Order: sequence, then structure tokens, then C-alpha cells
Amino acid sequence: MRKKCLLANWKMLGDTQQISTLVEQLIVGISSGAPNSEVVLFPPAPYLRLVAEAIKATSIALGAQTVAEFAPGAYTGEVAAEMLIDVGCRYVLVGHSERRTLFAENDAKISGKFSRAMKLGLIPVLCIGETLKEWQAEETFAVLTRQLTAVFAEANDLKDFIIAYEPVWAIGTGKVASPEHVQSVHRFIRAILTDVFHLEAQKIPIVYGGSVKAQNFAALLAMEDIDGGLIGGASWQAAEFIEMSKMCLI
Ligand code: PGA
Repeated sequence: MRKKCLLANWKMLGDTQQISTLVEQLIVGISSGAPNSEVVLFPPAPYLRLVAEAIKATSIALGAQTVAEFAPGAYTGEVAAEMLIDVGCRYVLVGHSERRTLFAENDAKISGKFSRAMKLGLIPVLCIGETLKEWQAEETFAVLTRQLTAVFAEANDLKDFIIAYEPVWAIGTGKVASPEHVQSVHRFIRAILTDVFHLEAQKIPIVYGGSVKAQNFAALLAMEDIDGGLIGGASWQAAEFIEMSKMCLI
């Protein structure tokens, strides 16, 4: 059975006070120790240590929102995988659409970040998804194939990672993709994973992101190939996020 993953992407938001309060509420509300579900918080980099300390006696895990593709060295402003591990991260988001569009991260760069994270033992969450224009032009499958194969081209024995399918038109817009649509895309992604990783592909979680809330999450989770969610806006509301975490308990 694949694990269910609930991932909180806090983006470039919050301050010490807000993040401490939110984490305290989540610790109280999220049941610990379910073997087949994983809750991961992705705070902005300056708050990683604070969150790591707060969650250290819980089953909640920590992740960063991006990582450098380089080993430590003269790369002003960047953060190396070694540093993320040092402050307690187990996961890292790679290729979020905001990184791709606002920070010009192309497939080659994303592939470098993915490989470096894996090499150092961080679990990358590879974010992929089509834009509205690509969706309307029925290019979704072609875009996803390109984004996936760019990353797998160099490394076909990689196994411990998560895929997050996030149609760009659904992120922060309130327009959630229908469970049937997401299931058909996830099935397509799983077929690509199967080509590369064979039977191991069955173990790779594929989560959906884009305007997920407690109210629409259960129907998504009920689909065979939807293994959880990458949650932006709704992860700032403790009650919503706690409710979603309960849906992931299996
Ligand atoms: P959203 O963001 O839930 O606010 O749509 C998802 C994301 O950007 O990962």
C-alpha cells in the first residue's frame, strides 16, 4: 500500500509569531504515528530551525521549498542540501511552478536540484503541471512527459521521491481540477513511472496540488492514484489542515 502524504507549502509567508502559533496548533491536532501517512511542513527557509525544534518529538516531518543544485561553495544566496539536512529537513520541493515561472528554473536546473537532493538523502517532491494555455491547447500530457523525462533521464534507479501534479491554472485560483481529471492525469504519470521504474512505480506517491481544501480533498483522495495533497492557502488554517490530515490516516 502506498503512503498518503499531506504537504503544507507555506510559500514566502508568515513570521515567527504566526509560524510558532500555527505549528503549535498542528502538533495538538495531528495524530501521531500512523505508519502509512506522512505530514510534512515546508516553511520559508529562515523558520526551518524553529519548526524543526517544535516538531522534533512528533511524527510531523520537515521540508524546504527549494535547494541549490550545487555542492556548498561560493553561491551567494543559495542553500545547499547538506544545510537543509543539518537543520532537520527530510524533504524538499523541487520545480514548483512559481520557481519555474518567476525564477526561470528550467528542466535542466530542476533535474540538477532533484539529483542533488536524492544524492544527499533528501526526499524530493517533484512538482509538475501544465499552464492554462497548455491545458487549453490539450498539451497536458506532452508537458508532463517532458517535465518527468528531463528529471529521470540521468537517474533511472531513483526510487524515494514524491510527484506533485499541480496544474498551474489551479494554484491559488480556487479552481480545483475535478477528481476524475486528476485521476486520469495521475494514471498517465504512473504509466511513465512504470516505464522507468517498473514495479517500483507502484510505491511512488503522486499527490495533487491546486486549491485543495478540506471540502474537496476527500473526493480527490478517494481516487486510486491520488495519494495525498500539496496544500498552499488552506495549510495556513490549522483546523482545515488538521481535518485533511485525518482523511489521510489509513
Ligand atoms: P494552493 O497552492 O493550495 O494555494 O492552490 C498549492 C501550491 O502552490 O503548492
